[in-house]
Amino acid sequence: MPPSISRIVQALEPSATLAMAAKAKELKATGKTVYDFSVGEPDFTTPEHICQAAVSAMQAGHTHYTVASGIPELRTAIAKQYLATHGLQYAAQQVVVSNGAKHSLHNVFTALCNPGDEVIIPAPYWVSYAELVKLTGAVPVIVPTDETNNFKLTPTQLRAAITSKSTILLICSPSNPTGTMYSPEELGELADVVLERNLTVVSDEIYERLIYGNHRFASFATVRPSMQDRTIVVNGASKAYAMTGWRIGWTLSPTNVATAMADLQSQETSNPSSISQYAALAAIQGPQECVSRMLAEFANRREFVRQRIAEIKGLSCPDMAGAFYAFINIKAQLGRTYGGTRVDNSTQWCLALLEQQNVATVMGSAFGAEGYARISFATSLETLKAGFDRIEAFLKSSQP
Ligand SMILES: Cc1ncc(COP(=O)(O)O)c(C=O)c1O
Repeated sequence: MPPSISRIVQALEPSATLAMAAKAKELKATGKTVYDFSVGEPDFTTPEHICQAAVSAMQAGHTHYTVASGIPELRTAIAKQYLATHGLQYAAQQVVVSNGAKHSLHNVFTALCNPGDEVIIPAPYWVSYAELVKLTGAVPVIVPTDETNNFKLTPTQLRAAITSKSTILLICSPSNPTGTMYSPEELGELADVVLERNLTVVSDEIYERLIYGNHRFASFATVRPSMQDRTIVVNGASKAYAMTGWRIGWTLSPTNVATAMADLQSQETSNPSSISQYAALAAIQGPQECVSRMLAEFANRREFVRQRIAEIKGLSCPDMAGAFYAFINIKAQLGRTYGGTRVDNSTQWCLALLEQQNVATVMGSAFGAEGYARISFATSLETLKAGFDRIEAFLKSSQP
């Protein structure tokens, strides 16, 4: 008899984005050209000076364990960056560097949650939040938001979701999967409820550097004078510096939380890769034009995606203020037949689109919002052009 799997792990949903990406890869392996809009990672290579810093780190012998919470130089650089960009004062000891922001989130929930605690997560949400909360025995409380409000949680919705067991509000802004972002004023109004009801905020700011046009980003920790004391900021190198594979994320938090997470990490994984840490240090301290260059390219693609969605009859999406996703409303496309297959939900729609047109997207249901599909535009304009022509053809082929 094979060993049995724990109830907690059995209850985990595998990542739907990675599952769609795997299906796209399978199709590619059969020799087909696949237009892959499923995975949320920059298609650019990591900037050269960052790669060189990793080589230099190896040559200089930085190939051993580091302090569990990260090398002091990197933690100081992260703290300085938050001071320079947001005016927030953090000591290096309040920064914990982990194996990607996903690991940072795992540390946060493990350090803060007791079984039965409720963590409020507005939907649509990034696929891993609820699962990471469940791993701790805490309960994710999903609060649906409205497209008419750009999928942003309102203070009234927040108030209604709070119970005596609520401990944490999770906010992701700019959002994966919708690309929408809270204004400083909107965050301030949520912060008033947080203060009134004594909650902690986990603010996922991983898309902070990818903001378009005149939209203004605010870190949750800045929106009310005392918010820094009850906010855990999550950020990382993956999205801004095209460093997904290096696995470097970090938190900025009150000292007691940082100490708890450092202790946890020292037992679970020791430290994140020493070489990656030196690469991330070069990313933060080095020239930032690479970020602007990638942002400019993302902005071109966003414009193209916006235009195509506006042009294609029956599709719409909210304004993307940041990140690299469009969350398209496909409600009018459901209940129809595509190439002889009736499609009633977002999973069936995404699978039919992949099978019939080789275009990979992710079903809205994976993000807690049925009737939508997520398109990642972290891929070339050429691929986007061809892919959108196929999406248009797919819709035209459908029958009532
Ligand atoms: C909202 C959000 N948070 C966190 C992460 C995790 O990023 P990392 O690659 O640093 O683990 C992602 C990655 O897709 C994300 O979209």
